[in-house]
Amino acid sequence: MKITLRLIVSLLLGTALVVFLFSYIQTQAEEKKLNEDLGLRAKLITKSFKEAVEPFLDITERPDRIKQFIGKFKGHVRLIGILVYLKEGTFVTVPDELSQKEMFKNELTESIEKNEPIESVGKWDDKKIHFYAIPLEKDSLIVGSLGVIHDRSYIIQRVMESWKRMAVTFSILAFILSVTTLMIIRWSVTGPIARISEWVKKERLGDTSLTPHQLPEQGDVKKLFFEITRMASSLKAAKLDLVEQTRLNQSGESRWTKERLKDYLRSKLGEAPLYVIANREPYIHRKNGNGKVECIVPASGVVTALDPVLQATGGVWVAHGSGNADRETVDKHNKLSVPPWNPTYSLKRVWLSEEEEKGYYYGFANEGLWPLCHIAHVRPAFNISDWDQYKGVNQKFADSLLEELDSRSPLILIQDYHFALLPKMIKEKRPDAKVAIFWHIPWPNPEAFGICPWQEEILDGMLGSDLISFHTQFHCNNFLDTVDRVLESRIDWTAFGVTREGKTSYVRPFPISVSFASNEEKIIQEPQKKKELLKKYGLEGKNIGIGVDRIDYTKGLLERFKAIGRTLEKYPELQGKLVFVELGAPSRTLIPTYQNHLSEIEKLVSAINSQYGSKDYQPILFLKEHHHQKTIRQFYQIADFCLVSSLHDGMNLVAKEFISERHDEDGVLILSRFTGASHELKSALIINPYDIEETAEAIHQALSMLPEEKQERMKRLRNQVQDQNIYRWAAELITELVKSF
Ligand code: F6P
Repeated sequence: MKITLRLIVSLLLGTALVVFLFSYIQTQAEEKKLNEDLGLRAKLITKSFKEAVEPFLDITERPDRIKQFIGKFKGHVRLIGILVYLKEGTFVTVPDELSQKEMFKNELTESIEKNEPIESVGKWDDKKIHFYAIPLEKDSLIVGSLGVIHDRSYIIQRVMESWKRMAVTFSILAFILSVTTLMIIRWSVTGPIARISEWVKKERLGDTSLTPHQLPEQGDVKKLFFEITRMASSLKAAKLDLVEQTRLNQSGESRWTKERLKDYLRSKLGEAPLYVIANREPYIHRKNGNGKVECIVPASGVVTALDPVLQATGGVWVAHGSGNADRETVDKHNKLSVPPWNPTYSLKRVWLSEEEEKGYYYGFANEGLWPLCHIAHVRPAFNISDWDQYKGVNQKFADSLLEELDSRSPLILIQDYHFALLPKMIKEKRPDAKVAIFWHIPWPNPEAFGICPWQEEILDGMLGSDLISFHTQFHCNNFLDTVDRVLESRIDWTAFGVTREGKTSYVRPFPISVSFASNEEKIIQEPQKKKELLKKYGLEGKNIGIGVDRIDYTKGLLERFKAIGRTLEKYPELQGKLVFVELGAPSRTLIPTYQNHLSEIEKLVSAINSQYGSKDYQPILFLKEHHHQKTIRQFYQIADFCLVSSLHDGMNLVAKEFISERHDEDGVLILSRFTGASHELKSALIINPYDIEETAEAIHQALSMLPEEKQERMKRLRNQVQDQNIYRWAAELITELVKSF
């Protein structure tokens, strides 16, 4: 109310000032004009009286004649007095009272003496008057003077009327202004604010009956409303996270296992078949140097996570057949049973031409969407021919999947940014399918995503899904914000759903995980094997750090090695003792950015090795090749610490794999705060990988940590990962997907 009052008073004061100035100028002009008219009129009258009176000046009975003459004009419009004064003493006036009181005699005398007209204004009785006199002549001599008095009260009256009119105008204006201001403030400011307050209050009290969409978005408060909506949804998400976290903690005893997932899905899905579509295949066949075909498991988060799920549930995995011996190992339907050593599900391979792979995989997916979604300061590149290939390959995968489907309603789990268009393509042909897309990488804010020239098509394609999922609520919110900005759709921030053309897709966080080696599965290293490994790499008696990555600029490898160098510089006692083993799998090597990045890494590693190394000691062991799971697991088990320094990462499963392999409850995890994993793994040493000093300190802390603290931290981390394992992830995601129908 105070604001409204202040606004109205200011407006009225301003208006009053303007109206007053305007009126003042106008009335002044009007008064001047009326005065001038009156002066002119007096001049004309005196002139004609003069001509009429002068002939009487010769005659003896002139006072009578003059009086007789001027008497005729008594009562003439506003003329209230006529005076004739002659030097010789005759003073004739109408009315008589003027001569009796000798009024204006001085002015008449002055006119005679100066031989010029005299004009003045003044008062007579209660009247405002105008007086004008001119000299009278006889034989070219000034003998007297003639004056007229006009009543000028009407001028004052007119001026007063003008002021009154202005006052009325101002009152009307003031009324209109006040009412309009009140209405505008009520409609555009106080009304919406009151409704927002009511909504925020209801939300706070847990009443969701009023959704933000019922609130009008108008005027200048639209932005405020938008921000509050976002804030409320973040708070709600945090609350939901907490509730979910508590629920999961409470259900800690009943952990999810392969068997439990299998039973659960059978009861939940019945006969509905399960399909996974991912670009990367879980098993690649390729020929080694001797021409012998070998099967390798690629370094891929998708594979680490989804292979155990399909091993538990059975189903079909559709992927790009990228190995040079892949065609030799499939049947006539391009399928094979995997894992080759214990078949539990089918892998269907889709063949891509070199051109298709170049445009869809290297081009659009990895030179466009990958840098677009990761804040790693590499410029995304988009071009039309890559986009065309991307669309074509998505259609190829859709066709390949569709020919697999029978009449039962399938459950389809699409993986990652390679297949943004696939959900819509599938849904169009099979509306009965339950489709989810899981985006394994971060989703940027709407401004960043807006760089992509085909953002509308991508969002439209994804919204073909019933469920769209990310690792964190933050990325879900970014996605919803992007849809909100780009597409004609209705976002329900309460249910985290997007409705477009009558179809609703739900957006949910499901932090992905690993299977967590069970007691039966764990391969604890025999002391002999451990010794052999240490000997093979010259690691006996050393402090060992480990890094396991695809060689990718998002992984922060340069920052990581700089931190190793800085640790050795800061703590010289570690020189000759600390060895950091990097198991780096070359990745996307046809892309120039990756080639340049690799050569930068190699240069840095050799600089650090020559600065701090010796003939028998290399501080960084950069093992640049594809490593088998078994080797990686062995290294996880002997390391004193594992360093994950991603500059941006959707989740990062290396962190969880390391924890899962530490059956001895030893070893320290140093984890970048820019990974999705850092939201869950709070007992790790959390670092900012750009801060080399901080990382060096964390390495030193890891190496000097007391065994009790290491054990305590590792215990907590293991509990977390064991509880939130991939079987729980799959069960919860599929439950949500089935629920969304
Ligand atoms: O992190 C995104 C992702 O698709 C992962 O799922 C996987 O670990 C990795 O990239 C694999 O990359 P590529 O298939 O290009 O080797």
